[in-house]
Amino acid sequence: MGIAGSDRRSVVIKALSAAGFAALGLPDRSLAQPAELPATPACEGHAAATPRQTEGPFFTPSSPQRADLRSDGSGTLLVLSGFVLTRQCRPIPGALLDFWHADTAGQYDNRGFRFRGHLFADQLGRYQFITRAPGLYTGRTRHLHVKVRAATQSPVLTTQLYFPDEPGNRRDSLFDAKLLMSLRRAEGGQLGRFDFVLAG
Ligand SMILES: [Fe+2]
Repeated sequence: MGIAGSDRRSVVIKALSAAGFAALGLPDRSLAQPAELPATPACEGHAAATPRQTEGPFFTPSSPQRADLRSDGSGTLLVLSGFVLTRQCRPIPGALLDFWHADTAGQYDNRGFRFRGHLFADQLGRYQFITRAPGLYTGRTRHLHVKVRAATQSPVLTTQLYFPDEPGNRRDSLFDAKLLMSLRRAEGGQLGRFDFVLAG
């Protein structure tokens, strides 16, 4: 392998972003700029597994497979991308990621699948999806829910991802800074990055 792991990841994330945004048909070309975001957490040979968090009461199994969770209505676009990695920082091709989160008004769709969907990491362990940033609901800071699994028989990592610079982070007892996405604003939305590290 000619490029060190972290450099290689930076390169492929850039490639992923340009191609991925185009594939998603984002209307705003300014969002199609390559995302230069730091890995979260840094994975430099050995890494701690991504912390587990409670599933909460609103998980619905058998979500549709899709990388576009945008739904009707408005709200800040969020493009989240990253890797699924082993603790040795090796990518896990084909890993399953199942996301669910509240809508922009802070409501979960518990009858259907708005803002719910699963996707698979590609052959380089990369994933990317687009959604609208969730709204707030009482008692919680802004967050995404996710389950990640390396393969069908593998243990499931259930956790939550958090947004930087949210006032509610300080008041939410579940908040864990290790689960903060890297996030930057782009015209028309936000670009996020989070790398999952699976134990075992
Ligand atoms: Fe939640």
